[in-house]
Amino acid sequence: MKYSIAIDGPAGAGKSTVAKIAAKRLGIPYLDTGAMYRALAVACKRHDVDVNDWDAVRAYLPKMQMEVRYTDTGEQHMFSDGEDVTPFLRTEEISQGASLVSMVPEVRDRLTELQREVAHSRAVIMDGRDICTNVLSDTPHKFFITASAEERANRRYKQLTEQGQPAEYETILADIVQRDKQDSERAYMPLVCKDDTILIDTTALSIEQAVEALLSEVHE
Ligand code: DC
Repeated sequence: MKYSIAIDGPAGAGKSTVAKIAAKRLGIPYLDTGAMYRALAVACKRHDVDVNDWDAVRAYLPKMQMEVRYTDTGEQHMFSDGEDVTPFLRTEEISQGASLVSMVPEVRDRLTELQREVAHSRAVIMDGRDICTNVLSDTPHKFFITASAEERANRRYKQLTEQGQPAEYETILADIVQRDKQDSERAYMPLVCKDDTILIDTTALSIEQAVEALLSEVHE
């Protein structure tokens, strides 16, 4: 693999599932950049930093100690202040917090730097909201993976109920719509699909079909 693969798209579209499988098949590392914004949201919560207060978030940034590590089996873990915070990344509160801190330009610039370091000396597959448009804008392999908001809410609802967790479809859908709005309407580096990016709509696709769609483009 000479070039890295960049994937953007809204929450819950299947980006990370597709990216993980594609990374294994291509034998390259996968970086989930959303996990980095989430780890920052966890750190803010622990340090009593209000994620709605940009100045407070900015003041915390120089103290941020974030690290991405991989297990022997290639699983990405996020460390904050030396602690593995991976188990705390996936709550609704942290999802919202991540979306809010991601609006702060200085946060985006700092995390972009860290993400580019990972891709500096090797090809990687990376997903997020500004990977095609910013972090890896030089790569020819750019993808926008999406699905209807209803389908994404359905998938999340199924996932939560299968894990035996409480779930309410309407609330999940409202959260998704709210996060889409925040991520695509923020002033600095919003989520957009540009003309040079291949759109994969997974609403009616299986995971395998979505992976195939991506890999066939890469191999071409
Ligand atoms: O992909 P995710 O749902 O884990 O991302 C959580 C939030 O982080 C998302 O709502 C917006 C933000 N994010 C971002 O702004 N840029 C990225 N490259 C990745 C995530």
